[in-house]
Amino acid sequence: MGRHAPYLREMGLVQWRHVSPVRVEPAGSSGVEVTAKAACSQEAANALSALADDAAACERCDLCRTRNQTVFGVGSPRARWLFVGEAPGAEEDKQGMPFVGRAGALLSAMLFSIGLSREDVYIANVLKCRPPNNRDPLGREVRECSPFLHQQISWVQPEIIVAMGRFAAQALLETDQSLGQLRGHSHKYKINELPLVVTYHPAYLLRSPSAKGKSWEDLTLAQSIVD
Ligand code: URA
Repeated sequence: MGRHAPYLREMGLVQWRHVSPVRVEPAGSSGVEVTAKAACSQEAANALSALADDAAACERCDLCRTRNQTVFGVGSPRARWLFVGEAPGAEEDKQGMPFVGRAGALLSAMLFSIGLSREDVYIANVLKCRPPNNRDPLGREVRECSPFLHQQISWVQPEIIVAMGRFAAQALLETDQSLGQLRGHSHKYKINELPLVVTYHPAYLLRSPSAKGKSWEDLTLAQSIVD
């Protein structure tokens, strides 16, 4: 397990081996392709930045009155993996970044256990503003905010979406099925048919560490799809 041991222990895992994802460029990838990829990445970065500005000015629901700031998303603009949580908490609302509190530390450990860092992925939430007292998002808030998430996904064009928790899974799949029904197999994200895997929210895993093994299974399912 070597240097990954502390992260896997944090995940509550002792017996799994860390596997580095290897991205194999197609043989003969030319300088022209590399330049085209960089241009796409810059275009996505610019579009995401403009979208973040729109979100920061958004007043579509009452959460704009209680937020300190919007928490739009973070990570590589053309990441292969896109993780979606529920909504910013107090610390995220203070810092303007998703998953920077305790749940965020566990998310980093989860990423590390499958050979990823936060810089490799894109992380966003269904809601861009913190619900007061960390209450559950309301249906109306999810409906008003979801277009931002759908546009983020369209720009990042990941190879896999990982929905963390019931709210992310139900919002992305437009279903009211339970997390238990949605976990364990691959779904198709309705807009562009990207593969989507559902797992537990890291905050739930902090409360129920015995579910960490199942979340590992979800991540390895996602990894098998990407590989
Ligand atoms: N929980 C979430 O769903 N998102 C965050 O950004 C932090 C905690």
